[in-house]
Amino acid sequence: MTIDEQTYAQYVHEDLAHLLHPQYYAPDHQAPVIFDHGEGVWLTDVKGKRYIDALSSLWNVAVGHGRGELADAAAEQIRKVAFTNNYVGFSNVPAIQLAAKVVSLAYDNMAAVFFTNSGSESNEGAFKTARFYWNLQGRPSKVKLIARERAYHGGTLATSAMTGLPVFWKYFGPLDPNIVHTKKPDNLECDCEPNSDGECAHWLEAAILREGPDTVAAFIAEPVKGAGGVWTPADGYFERIREICDRYDVLFIADEVITGFGRTGYWFALERWGVQPDILSIAKAITSGYIPMGAFIVSKPIAEALHDLPPDARFMHAYTNSAHPTASAVGLRNLKIMEDERLLENAAAMGARMGDAFEQALGKHAHVTNLRHLGLIAGLTLVKDAATGEAYAASDGIGGRVARHLREEGGVITRFVGDNIVFAPPLIVSAAEVDQIVEATARAIAAVTAG
Ligand SMILES: Cc1ncc(COP(=O)(O)O)c(C=O)c1O
Repeated sequence: MTIDEQTYAQYVHEDLAHLLHPQYYAPDHQAPVIFDHGEGVWLTDVKGKRYIDALSSLWNVAVGHGRGELADAAAEQIRKVAFTNNYVGFSNVPAIQLAAKVVSLAYDNMAAVFFTNSGSESNEGAFKTARFYWNLQGRPSKVKLIARERAYHGGTLATSAMTGLPVFWKYFGPLDPNIVHTKKPDNLECDCEPNSDGECAHWLEAAILREGPDTVAAFIAEPVKGAGGVWTPADGYFERIREICDRYDVLFIADEVITGFGRTGYWFALERWGVQPDILSIAKAITSGYIPMGAFIVSKPIAEALHDLPPDARFMHAYTNSAHPTASAVGLRNLKIMEDERLLENAAAMGARMGDAFEQALGKHAHVTNLRHLGLIAGLTLVKDAATGEAYAASDGIGGRVARHLREEGGVITRFVGDNIVFAPPLIVSAAEVDQIVEATARAIAAVTAG
Protein backbone atom coordinates (compact mmCIF):
# COMPACT_ATOMS: atom_id res chain seq x y z
CA MET A 1 0.00 0.00 0.00
CA THR A 2 1.22 3.52 -0.76
CA ILE A 3 -0.84 6.54 0.15
CA ASP A 4 -1.08 10.16 -0.99
CA GLU A 5 0.06 13.16 1.07
CA GLN A 6 -3.46 13.99 2.16
CA THR A 7 -4.06 10.54 3.63
CA TYR A 8 -0.65 10.66 5.29
CA ALA A 9 -1.51 14.04 6.85
CA GLN A 10 -4.78 12.59 8.13
CA TYR A 11 -2.97 9.65 9.78
CA VAL A 12 -0.49 12.03 11.41
CA HIS A 13 -3.33 14.18 12.68
CA GLU A 14 -5.14 11.19 14.22
CA ASP A 15 -1.91 9.75 15.60
CA LEU A 16 -1.15 13.04 17.37
CA ALA A 17 -4.72 13.32 18.60
CA HIS A 18 -5.20 9.79 19.94
CA LEU A 19 -2.07 7.65 20.20
CA LEU A 20 0.26 7.94 23.17
CA HIS A 21 3.49 6.29 22.07
CA PRO A 22 6.17 4.70 24.26
CA GLN A 23 8.60 7.38 25.54
CA TYR A 24 6.09 9.94 24.34
CA TYR A 25 7.12 13.44 23.29
CA ALA A 26 4.74 14.99 20.78
CA PRO A 27 7.39 16.82 18.66
CA ASP A 28 8.80 13.38 17.72
CA HIS A 29 5.52 12.58 15.98
CA GLN A 30 5.03 15.55 13.64
CA ALA A 31 6.32 13.67 10.57
CA PRO A 32 6.55 10.03 11.62
CA VAL A 33 7.63 7.07 9.54
CA ILE A 34 4.43 5.05 9.34
CA PHE A 35 5.29 1.47 8.50
CA ASP A 36 3.27 -0.59 6.08
CA HIS A 37 5.00 -3.92 5.49
CA GLY A 38 8.23 -5.82 5.84
CA GLU A 39 10.22 -8.63 4.34
CA GLY A 40 13.49 -10.03 5.66
CA VAL A 41 15.56 -7.13 7.04
CA TRP A 42 13.56 -4.64 4.97
CA LEU A 43 10.68 -2.40 6.03
CA THR A 44 8.55 -0.26 3.73
CA ASP A 45 6.57 2.75 4.90
CA VAL A 46 3.17 3.92 3.70
CA LYS A 47 4.84 6.27 1.20
CA GLY A 48 6.71 3.36 -0.37
CA LYS A 49 10.17 4.24 1.01
CA ARG A 50 12.30 1.18 1.94
CA TYR A 51 14.63 0.91 4.92
CA ILE A 52 17.00 -1.67 6.36
CA ASP A 53 15.79 -2.48 9.87
CA ALA A 54 19.21 -2.34 11.54
CA LEU A 55 17.83 -2.79 15.07
CA SER A 56 15.48 -5.72 14.35
CA SER A 57 12.77 -3.09 15.07
CA LEU A 58 13.17 -3.13 18.88
CA TRP A 59 15.92 -5.78 19.08
CA ASN A 60 13.20 -8.41 18.68
CA VAL A 61 12.47 -9.35 15.06
CA ALA A 62 15.24 -11.96 15.02
CA VAL A 63 13.99 -14.06 12.10
CA GLY A 64 13.16 -11.00 10.00
CA HIS A 65 9.85 -9.64 8.75
CA GLY A 66 7.11 -11.26 6.70
CA ARG A 67 7.47 -14.87 7.86
CA GLY A 68 4.42 -16.74 6.58
CA GLU A 69 5.29 -19.77 8.77
CA LEU A 70 4.63 -17.71 11.89
CA ALA A 71 1.33 -16.41 10.52
CA ASP A 72 0.37 -20.03 9.80
CA ALA A 73 1.37 -21.19 13.30
CA ALA A 74 -0.76 -18.47 14.87
CA ALA A 75 -3.72 -19.08 12.53
CA GLU A 76 -3.66 -22.85 13.11
CA GLN A 77 -3.69 -22.44 16.86
CA ILE A 78 -6.36 -19.73 16.78
CA ARG A 79 -8.61 -21.98 14.69
CA LYS A 80 -8.07 -24.82 17.15
CA VAL A 81 -8.42 -22.67 20.25
CA ALA A 82 -6.86 -19.21 20.63
CA PHE A 83 -6.79 -19.02 24.39
CA THR A 84 -7.35 -21.28 27.35
CA ASN A 85 -7.03 -20.79 31.09
CA ASN A 86 -3.62 -21.85 32.35
CA TYR A 87 -4.27 -21.30 36.05
CA VAL A 88 -4.85 -23.90 38.78
CA GLY A 89 -5.24 -27.35 37.29
CA PHE A 90 -5.29 -26.37 33.58
CA SER A 91 -2.65 -26.42 30.88
CA ASN A 92 -2.19 -26.49 27.09
CA VAL A 93 0.05 -28.42 24.71
CA PRO A 94 1.95 -25.56 22.96
CA ALA A 95 2.93 -24.03 26.32
CA ILE A 96 4.09 -27.39 27.69
CA GLN A 97 6.16 -27.98 24.55
CA LEU A 98 7.61 -24.46 24.52
CA ALA A 99 8.58 -24.66 28.21
CA ALA A 100 10.41 -27.94 27.59
CA LYS A 101 12.09 -26.50 24.48
CA VAL A 102 13.25 -23.32 26.22
CA VAL A 103 14.65 -25.29 29.17
CA SER A 104 16.52 -27.55 26.73
CA LEU A 105 18.13 -24.51 25.05
CA ALA A 106 18.87 -22.55 28.25
CA TYR A 107 21.74 -23.01 30.71
CA ASP A 108 22.22 -26.56 32.08
CA ASN A 109 21.13 -25.52 35.57
CA MET A 110 17.74 -24.22 34.39
CA ALA A 111 14.58 -26.21 35.16
CA ALA A 112 11.25 -24.38 34.88
CA VAL A 113 9.64 -21.53 32.96
CA PHE A 114 7.04 -18.93 33.94
CA PHE A 115 5.66 -17.26 30.80
CA THR A 116 4.91 -13.53 30.71
CA ASN A 117 3.89 -11.03 28.02
CA SER A 118 6.92 -8.74 28.04
CA GLY A 119 10.45 -8.22 29.25
CA SER A 120 9.23 -5.88 31.99
CA GLU A 121 6.93 -8.55 33.37
CA SER A 122 9.77 -11.08 33.16
CA ASN A 123 12.08 -8.91 35.26
CA GLU A 124 9.37 -7.94 37.69
CA GLY A 125 8.47 -11.62 38.14
CA ALA A 126 12.11 -12.60 38.50
CA PHE A 127 12.53 -10.11 41.35
CA LYS A 128 9.33 -11.25 43.06
CA THR A 129 10.52 -14.85 42.71
CA ALA A 130 13.89 -14.01 44.28
CA ARG A 131 12.14 -12.51 47.31
CA PHE A 132 9.72 -15.44 47.48
CA TYR A 133 12.63 -17.89 47.38
CA TRP A 134 14.50 -16.23 50.23
CA ASN A 135 11.34 -16.23 52.33
CA LEU A 136 11.02 -19.95 51.70
CA GLN A 137 14.61 -20.33 52.88
CA GLY A 138 13.73 -18.56 56.14
CA ARG A 139 15.66 -15.41 55.17
CA PRO A 140 12.93 -12.76 54.86
CA SER A 141 15.37 -9.87 55.31
CA LYS A 142 16.75 -10.46 51.81
CA VAL A 143 14.48 -8.05 49.92
CA LYS A 144 16.71 -5.63 47.98
CA LEU A 145 17.69 -5.76 44.36
CA ILE A 146 20.93 -4.35 42.98
CA ALA A 147 21.02 -3.22 39.35
CA ARG A 148 23.60 -1.34 37.28
CA GLU A 149 23.98 2.17 35.95
CA ARG A 150 23.01 2.48 32.25
CA ALA A 151 20.94 -0.71 32.47
CA TYR A 152 17.45 -0.91 30.98
CA HIS A 153 15.03 -3.37 32.55
CA GLY A 154 11.55 -2.17 31.62
CA GLY A 155 8.67 0.21 32.15
CA THR A 156 6.72 -1.05 35.17
CA LEU A 157 7.28 0.77 38.42
CA ALA A 158 9.75 -1.80 39.78
CA THR A 159 11.59 -2.27 36.48
CA SER A 160 11.77 1.52 35.98
CA ALA A 161 13.55 1.63 39.33
CA MET A 162 15.89 -1.19 38.21
CA THR A 163 16.69 0.79 35.07
CA GLY A 164 19.91 2.72 35.67
CA LEU A 165 19.09 5.64 33.37
CA PRO A 166 17.75 8.62 35.35
CA VAL A 167 15.82 9.95 32.35
CA PHE A 168 13.36 7.10 32.94
CA TRP A 169 12.66 8.19 36.54
CA LYS A 170 11.69 11.84 36.13
CA TYR A 171 8.25 12.63 37.61
CA PHE A 172 7.50 8.94 38.31
CA GLY A 173 8.91 8.85 41.82
CA PRO A 174 9.24 8.01 44.54
CA LEU A 175 10.86 4.81 43.34
CA ASP A 176 11.21 1.69 45.47
CA PRO A 177 14.10 2.36 47.89
CA ASN A 178 14.83 -1.37 47.97
CA ILE A 179 16.06 -1.19 44.39
CA VAL A 180 19.57 0.31 44.25
CA HIS A 181 22.41 0.62 41.76
CA THR A 182 26.09 -0.17 41.60
CA LYS A 183 28.39 2.81 41.38
CA LYS A 184 32.12 3.29 41.24
CA PRO A 185 33.43 2.81 44.80
CA ASP A 186 35.72 5.48 46.25
CA ASN A 187 39.39 4.53 46.27
CA LEU A 188 38.88 1.38 44.22
CA GLU A 189 42.14 -0.31 43.44
CA CYS A 190 41.91 -3.44 41.34
CA ASP A 191 43.46 -4.87 38.22
CA CYS A 192 40.19 -5.86 36.51
CA GLU A 193 39.92 -5.04 32.85
CA PRO A 194 36.92 -2.65 32.81
CA ASN A 195 33.78 -3.18 30.73
CA SER A 196 33.34 -0.85 27.75
CA ASP A 197 31.50 1.64 30.00
CA GLY A 198 34.18 1.48 32.70
CA GLU A 199 32.36 -0.73 35.23
CA CYS A 200 34.02 -3.71 36.93
CA ALA A 201 32.72 -6.54 39.12
CA HIS A 202 34.04 -4.90 42.30
CA TRP A 203 31.32 -2.30 41.92
CA LEU A 204 28.81 -5.05 42.74
CA GLU A 205 30.76 -6.27 45.75
CA ALA A 206 30.94 -2.71 47.08
CA ALA A 207 27.16 -2.32 46.62
CA ILE A 208 26.41 -5.59 48.44
CA LEU A 209 28.66 -4.58 51.36
CA ARG A 210 27.17 -1.07 51.39
CA GLU A 211 23.59 -2.44 51.60
CA GLY A 212 24.44 -5.40 53.85
CA PRO A 213 24.46 -8.91 52.32
CA ASP A 214 21.59 -10.03 54.57
CA THR A 215 19.31 -7.47 52.92
CA VAL A 216 20.13 -8.29 49.28
CA ALA A 217 17.91 -10.77 47.42
CA ALA A 218 19.32 -10.45 43.92
CA PHE A 219 21.52 -8.71 41.39
CA ILE A 220 20.19 -8.10 37.87
CA ALA A 221 22.34 -7.49 34.80
CA GLU A 222 22.04 -7.57 31.03
CA PRO A 223 25.00 -9.47 29.53
CA VAL A 224 25.29 -6.55 27.11
CA LYS A 225 23.62 -3.32 28.26
CA GLY A 226 21.40 -2.65 25.27
CA ALA A 227 18.97 0.25 25.42
CA GLY A 228 21.47 2.16 27.59
CA GLY A 229 23.76 2.45 24.56
CA VAL A 230 25.27 -1.06 23.96
CA TRP A 231 27.98 -1.57 26.55
CA THR A 232 29.85 -4.86 26.36
CA PRO A 233 31.46 -6.68 29.30
CA ALA A 234 35.15 -7.50 29.58
CA ASP A 235 36.12 -11.17 29.59
CA GLY A 236 36.21 -12.23 33.23
CA TYR A 237 33.52 -9.79 34.36
CA PHE A 238 30.63 -12.23 34.58
CA GLU A 239 32.81 -15.00 36.03
CA ARG A 240 33.63 -12.58 38.89
CA ILE A 241 29.98 -11.55 39.20
CA ARG A 242 29.02 -15.20 39.66
CA GLU A 243 31.67 -15.66 42.40
CA ILE A 244 30.55 -12.51 44.21
CA CYS A 245 26.87 -13.51 44.10
CA ASP A 246 27.78 -16.95 45.47
CA ARG A 247 29.96 -15.47 48.21
CA TYR A 248 27.14 -13.29 49.57
CA ASP A 249 24.13 -15.55 48.82
CA VAL A 250 22.75 -13.13 46.24
CA LEU A 251 20.71 -14.56 43.35
CA PHE A 252 21.97 -13.57 39.91
CA ILE A 253 19.19 -12.58 37.48
CA ALA A 254 20.43 -12.41 33.88
CA ASP A 255 18.23 -10.07 31.85
CA GLU A 256 18.61 -11.62 28.41
CA VAL A 257 15.60 -9.85 26.93
CA ILE A 258 17.92 -8.58 24.17
CA THR A 259 20.76 -11.11 24.23
CA GLY A 260 18.60 -14.25 24.47
CA PHE A 261 17.97 -16.54 21.49
CA GLY A 262 21.05 -16.14 19.37
CA ARG A 263 21.85 -12.42 19.37
CA THR A 264 25.46 -12.97 20.46
CA GLY A 265 25.96 -16.21 18.51
CA TYR A 266 24.95 -18.38 21.50
CA TRP A 267 21.44 -19.30 22.57
CA PHE A 268 22.14 -17.26 25.71
CA ALA A 269 24.98 -14.81 26.08
CA LEU A 270 26.61 -15.97 29.32
CA GLU A 271 27.43 -19.32 27.67
CA ARG A 272 30.41 -17.52 26.11
CA TRP A 273 32.02 -17.33 29.56
CA GLY A 274 30.64 -20.58 31.02
CA VAL A 275 28.55 -18.65 33.57
CA GLN A 276 25.04 -19.67 34.70
CA PRO A 277 22.54 -17.30 36.31
CA ASP A 278 19.95 -18.33 38.92
CA ILE A 279 17.06 -16.72 37.06
CA LEU A 280 16.99 -15.94 33.34
CA SER A 281 14.67 -13.22 31.99
CA ILE A 282 13.69 -13.37 28.34
CA ALA A 283 11.19 -11.87 25.88
CA LYS A 284 11.52 -10.28 22.41
CA ALA A 285 13.19 -12.91 20.17
CA ILE A 286 11.34 -15.87 21.74
CA THR A 287 8.58 -15.01 19.23
CA SER A 288 10.64 -12.57 17.11
CA GLY A 289 8.04 -9.96 18.07
CA TYR A 290 5.31 -11.64 15.98
CA ILE A 291 3.18 -11.86 19.12
CA PRO A 292 3.98 -10.59 22.63
CA MET A 293 5.64 -13.09 24.92
CA GLY A 294 8.31 -13.25 27.60
CA ALA A 295 9.35 -15.57 30.41
CA PHE A 296 11.56 -16.02 33.41
CA ILE A 297 13.29 -19.32 33.82
CA VAL A 298 14.46 -20.58 37.19
CA SER A 299 17.32 -22.82 38.22
CA LYS A 300 16.81 -26.31 39.65
CA PRO A 301 17.02 -25.29 43.34
CA ILE A 302 14.44 -22.52 42.82
CA ALA A 303 12.18 -24.80 40.76
CA GLU A 304 12.38 -27.47 43.48
CA ALA A 305 11.48 -24.93 46.15
CA LEU A 306 8.45 -23.86 44.05
CA HIS A 307 7.38 -27.47 43.47
CA ASP A 308 7.45 -28.33 47.15
CA LEU A 309 5.67 -25.38 48.70
CA PRO A 310 4.18 -25.61 52.16
CA PRO A 311 0.34 -25.62 52.10
CA ASP A 312 0.13 -21.97 53.22
CA ALA A 313 2.56 -20.59 50.61
CA ARG A 314 1.09 -20.75 47.12
CA PHE A 315 3.17 -18.77 44.54
CA MET A 316 0.55 -16.07 43.97
CA HIS A 317 2.07 -14.57 40.83
CA ALA A 318 -0.10 -14.54 37.71
CA TYR A 319 -1.01 -12.95 34.40
CA THR A 320 -4.16 -13.80 32.43
CA ASN A 321 -2.09 -14.36 29.31
CA SER A 322 0.68 -16.39 30.93
CA ALA A 323 1.45 -19.50 28.84
CA HIS A 324 -0.83 -18.19 26.08
CA PRO A 325 -1.41 -21.07 23.61
CA THR A 326 -1.21 -18.95 20.45
CA ALA A 327 1.92 -17.09 21.59
CA SER A 328 3.44 -20.45 22.55
CA ALA A 329 2.67 -21.92 19.11
CA VAL A 330 4.37 -18.94 17.46
CA GLY A 331 7.34 -19.25 19.82
CA LEU A 332 7.80 -22.93 18.99
CA ARG A 333 7.71 -22.27 15.25
CA ASN A 334 10.06 -19.31 15.63
CA LEU A 335 12.66 -21.40 17.47
CA LYS A 336 12.37 -24.06 14.78
CA ILE A 337 13.19 -21.42 12.15
CA MET A 338 16.26 -20.43 14.18
CA GLU A 339 17.42 -24.06 14.31
CA ASP A 340 16.53 -25.01 10.72
CA GLU A 341 18.24 -21.94 9.28
CA ARG A 342 21.22 -22.11 11.67
CA LEU A 343 20.70 -18.50 12.65
CA LEU A 344 23.10 -18.62 15.61
CA GLU A 345 25.93 -19.39 13.21
CA ASN A 346 24.82 -16.59 10.92
CA ALA A 347 24.63 -14.18 13.87
CA ALA A 348 28.19 -15.06 14.88
CA ALA A 349 29.54 -14.75 11.33
CA MET A 350 27.65 -11.56 10.46
CA GLY A 351 28.47 -10.08 13.88
CA ALA A 352 32.18 -10.61 13.24
CA ARG A 353 31.80 -9.09 9.79
CA MET A 354 29.92 -6.08 11.16
CA GLY A 355 32.56 -5.53 13.89
CA ASP A 356 35.42 -5.72 11.38
CA ALA A 357 33.63 -3.48 8.88
CA PHE A 358 32.94 -0.80 11.50
CA GLU A 359 36.56 -1.00 12.63
CA GLN A 360 37.78 -0.57 9.08
CA ALA A 361 35.36 2.22 8.17
CA LEU A 362 35.38 4.18 11.43
CA GLY A 363 38.22 2.84 13.63
CA LYS A 364 40.39 5.88 12.94
CA HIS A 365 37.62 8.42 12.40
CA ALA A 366 38.15 11.82 14.04
CA HIS A 367 34.60 11.81 15.49
CA VAL A 368 34.11 8.17 16.51
CA THR A 369 35.34 6.30 19.56
CA ASN A 370 34.74 3.14 21.58
CA LEU A 371 33.59 0.84 18.76
CA ARG A 372 32.20 -2.24 20.49
CA HIS A 373 30.34 -5.36 19.53
CA LEU A 374 29.46 -8.80 20.80
CA GLY A 375 27.97 -11.10 18.19
CA LEU A 376 25.37 -9.21 16.20
CA ILE A 377 25.02 -6.25 18.55
CA ALA A 378 27.21 -3.19 18.15
CA GLY A 379 27.61 0.38 19.33
CA LEU A 380 29.79 3.39 18.69
CA THR A 381 30.21 6.76 20.39
CA LEU A 382 30.34 10.06 18.51
CA VAL A 383 32.83 12.55 19.92
CA LYS A 384 33.93 16.04 19.01
CA ASP A 385 37.54 14.97 19.02
CA ALA A 386 38.56 11.30 19.11
CA ALA A 387 42.18 12.22 19.91
CA THR A 388 41.32 13.98 23.18
CA GLY A 389 37.99 12.24 23.84
CA GLU A 390 36.22 15.61 24.02
CA ALA A 391 32.45 15.02 23.90
CA TYR A 392 29.89 16.93 21.88
CA ALA A 393 27.76 19.36 23.86
CA ALA A 394 24.37 17.84 24.63
CA SER A 395 22.79 20.74 22.73
CA ASP A 396 24.51 19.49 19.54
CA GLY A 397 22.12 16.53 19.50
CA ILE A 398 24.74 14.71 17.47
CA GLY A 399 23.34 11.19 17.96
CA GLY A 400 19.88 12.22 16.81
CA ARG A 401 21.22 14.11 13.82
CA VAL A 402 23.31 11.14 12.63
CA ALA A 403 20.44 8.68 13.16
CA ARG A 404 18.10 10.95 11.21
CA HIS A 405 20.54 11.40 8.32
CA LEU A 406 21.13 7.66 8.29
CA ARG A 407 17.41 7.03 8.03
CA GLU A 408 16.52 9.73 5.52
CA GLU A 409 19.54 9.56 3.21
CA GLY A 410 20.95 6.09 3.92
CA GLY A 411 17.67 4.20 4.25
CA VAL A 412 18.86 2.54 7.47
CA ILE A 413 16.79 2.62 10.64
CA THR A 414 18.49 2.25 13.99
CA ARG A 415 18.53 4.05 17.33
CA PHE A 416 20.66 6.56 19.13
CA VAL A 417 21.18 6.83 22.88
CA GLY A 418 22.73 10.22 23.60
CA ASP A 419 25.91 10.27 21.53
CA ASN A 420 25.83 6.52 20.89
CA ILE A 421 24.50 4.82 17.77
CA VAL A 422 23.48 1.19 18.24
CA PHE A 423 22.94 -1.72 15.84
CA ALA A 424 21.32 -5.14 16.11
CA PRO A 425 20.05 -6.30 12.72
CA PRO A 426 17.92 -9.44 12.34
CA LEU A 427 19.85 -12.72 12.70
CA ILE A 428 19.07 -13.49 9.03
CA VAL A 429 21.04 -10.46 7.80
CA SER A 430 23.28 -11.12 4.77
CA ALA A 431 26.87 -10.01 4.20
CA ALA A 432 25.74 -7.49 1.58
CA GLU A 433 23.19 -6.01 4.00
CA VAL A 434 25.77 -5.76 6.79
CA ASP A 435 28.08 -3.91 4.41
CA GLN A 436 25.26 -1.60 3.38
CA ILE A 437 24.51 -0.74 7.05
CA VAL A 438 28.16 0.06 7.75
CA GLU A 439 28.69 2.07 4.56
CA ALA A 440 25.52 4.11 5.09
CA THR A 441 26.54 4.78 8.72
CA ALA A 442 29.99 5.96 7.68
CA ARG A 443 28.44 8.27 5.07
CA ALA A 444 25.94 9.70 7.59
CA ILE A 445 28.67 10.37 10.16
CA ALA A 446 30.89 11.99 7.53
CA ALA A 447 28.04 14.24 6.34
CA VAL A 448 26.83 15.29 9.78
CA THR A 449 30.23 15.81 11.42
CA ALA A 450 31.48 17.82 8.42
CA GLY A 451 28.50 20.15 8.45
C1 LIG B 1 17.25 -5.73 28.48
C2 LIG B 1 15.80 -5.39 28.52
N1 LIG B 1 15.07 -5.79 29.56
C3 LIG B 1 13.76 -5.54 29.64
C4 LIG B 1 13.11 -4.85 28.65
C5 LIG B 1 11.65 -4.56 28.77
O1 LIG B 1 10.96 -5.35 27.86
P1 LIG B 1 9.47 -4.91 27.40
O2 LIG B 1 9.60 -3.62 26.69
O3 LIG B 1 9.07 -6.07 26.54
O4 LIG B 1 8.66 -4.82 28.62
C6 LIG B 1 13.83 -4.41 27.54
C7 LIG B 1 13.17 -3.66 26.45
O5 LIG B 1 13.79 -3.13 25.57
C8 LIG B 1 15.21 -4.68 27.47
O6 LIG B 1 15.95 -4.26 26.44
